[in-house]
Amino acid sequence: MRIPVIAGNWKLFKKTAEALRLVQELSPLVADARGVEIVLAPSFTVLGPVRSLLNDSSISIAGQDCFWEDEGAYTGEVSPGMLVDAGCSHVIIGHSERRHFFGETDETVNKKIRAAIRAGLTAIVCIGETLQERERNETFDILERQIKTGLRNLSTDEMEKVLLAYEPVWAIGTGKTATDEQAQEAHAFIRRLVAEYFSGPVADGLRILYGGSVKPDNIRSLMTQPDVDGALVGGASLTAESFAAIIHYQK
Ligand code: PGA
Repeated sequence: MRIPVIAGNWKLFKKTAEALRLVQELSPLVADARGVEIVLAPSFTVLGPVRSLLNDSSISIAGQDCFWEDEGAYTGEVSPGMLVDAGCSHVIIGHSERRHFFGETDETVNKKIRAAIRAGLTAIVCIGETLQERERNETFDILERQIKTGLRNLSTDEMEKVLLAYEPVWAIGTGKTATDEQAQEAHAFIRRLVAEYFSGPVADGLRILYGGSVKPDNIRSLMTQPDVDGALVGGASLTAESFAAIIHYQK
């Protein structure tokens, strides 16, 4: 049994007052949520205040990125150890926006994952094809390259600290969701690859989240797919009502 994970990626939104208001509104709405792990990924500057407000709640917090060195002369970077220090248990790595706007590659993704796991974090590793790649029928080649290089040299123990998020780039922030069948097909392919590169048990236990315009009205059918184990939610995680509705998809 894989426990589903619903993660909210706040991206470059929410200063302190807005972030705290969102957490205050969300907490009572999801206090009774069972059988689902909830993760919030606020911006670096509000991690501390959000963590304090969540107090002993079971909601986890994540960084939206991290660097691969633990300390040094790297102006502007945030290390995995600093995320742990701020109360994070998770970190998102390799989001398509980081790949697209900030030059993230499968090699840097690999270094970041390994550093994050060394620091004790769970890495939410994002992969997915662009629209052009899908139209050229390269989806599976892209996923294979991202997994092969991104997860290179990880041990099976380390893989237990990895969650994968399949996020077709054409579905992120566009209102276009992959169909349930497209999501399932990609997730099943990813799980088969992980079985091949690591082991059957690692692949069976791996949670694969879907991301890309997940909303209260499409989460339920996505979650009925056998290989969809949760969601990485952007826009719809920015209001308590819609994120809580996604978390309560079983109701
Ligand atoms: P979206 O973003 O839900 O706004 O499409 C998802 C993501 O980028 O993780």
